[in-house]
Amino acid sequence: MDSCGILALFDKVYGRSEGAEAFFAPGRVNLIGEHTDYNGGHVLPCALTFGTYIAARRRTDGWVRCFSGNYPETGVVRFELEEMANDPRHGWANYPKGVVRVFRDNGFPVDSGLDMVVRGDMPSGAGLSSSASIEMATAVMLSSLFSLGLEDEEGRVRMALLCKDVENGFIGVNSGIMDQFAVALGRAGTALFLDCATLERRYVPVDLGEYEIVVMNTNKSRMLVESKYNERRSECEQALADLRRAGAPISSLCDLSAGEFFGWEDAVADPVCRRRARHAVLENGRVLAAVDALTSGRIDDFGRLLNESHLSLQFDYETTGRELDCLAELSWQREECLGARMTGAGFGGAALAVVRRDGAAEFIRFVGERYGRYIGYDCAFYRSVAADGARRL
Ligand code: GLA
Repeated sequence: MDSCGILALFDKVYGRSEGAEAFFAPGRVNLIGEHTDYNGGHVLPCALTFGTYIAARRRTDGWVRCFSGNYPETGVVRFELEEMANDPRHGWANYPKGVVRVFRDNGFPVDSGLDMVVRGDMPSGAGLSSSASIEMATAVMLSSLFSLGLEDEEGRVRMALLCKDVENGFIGVNSGIMDQFAVALGRAGTALFLDCATLERRYVPVDLGEYEIVVMNTNKSRMLVESKYNERRSECEQALADLRRAGAPISSLCDLSAGEFFGWEDAVADPVCRRRARHAVLENGRVLAAVDALTSGRIDDFGRLLNESHLSLQFDYETTGRELDCLAELSWQREECLGARMTGAGFGGAALAVVRRDGAAEFIRFVGERYGRYIGYDCAFYRSVAADGARRL
């Protein structure tokens, strides 16, 4: 879809699209660095070519009207600027609503209502950040329509942080900062190497030579993701508290190098929490190694790090499950694949594989056919490249 498609939808819903503007925010895939963001570690996500489109126009009154081309059965959702509580009946519309609310609460002059339509060309609930995508698309829309001046780099960081507040405070998901940063600051052909403790960042070219990234969606419904995610967070907090009590001079788990961790690990009383902490610390080291491998063109080392990451998430962090393990293990059987791992929160969602371009069609056929046979329903594949972040179209 492009700006015309989303403006045509606006026309259909509200009559005339005159004066409406179009915006886009991508989804993201995290190459490596899983469950490190809220542990003060590094991540390495890319923005994707698919995501969420919005067309919107200001109104003269205080009503906000939203329509989603993906959930037409919900009809046009209406709410007033003065009545901005999360409302379960509003379903998906709580995302744009939360962004409007948080911008207003932070003193941004979003002082009139809006008509907007939304349509995503990405799978939602697949672990590719459809929620950060709709949040950031709303944020760039507000910045443009209300002249908030948040288009530069600093403004984008501000918008990403506000959208994280939406996710944590309004939607009620206790996620880290990775997704909003990737969606806000993604740059074509690169991955965002982000230190989540300091927000220092740089772009690492994703030049895989004859290889490409294949994203694989398990299509598993992710019923328990939020509660399991929050459980992992508190297990890490427990491990951190134990380490600090024993005298480790750290403010987050990823302050420890692998060597330091092995010196301190006995201080973590609960063996499950110890394994969670071990994953966070070692995964953080793998991100640094992966950046090094990518920068020096050692794609096979990069692939091996992806495999190690998956195994750590499978056995230490326990966020994979049958479907993601099936995708990874099928991928590992293929000679054209250098490495594969789950990506995102896990418990369903998506995986990624580094696959030789000339073998990608055969890879997809092999993995797809066997996954369907073992799991009982199909997975889906996307051959996306690293793309730009949220923008006006
Ligand atoms: C989800 C969260 C992110 C991050 C990942 C796991 O995508 O939104 O903040 O914690 O899980 O790496």
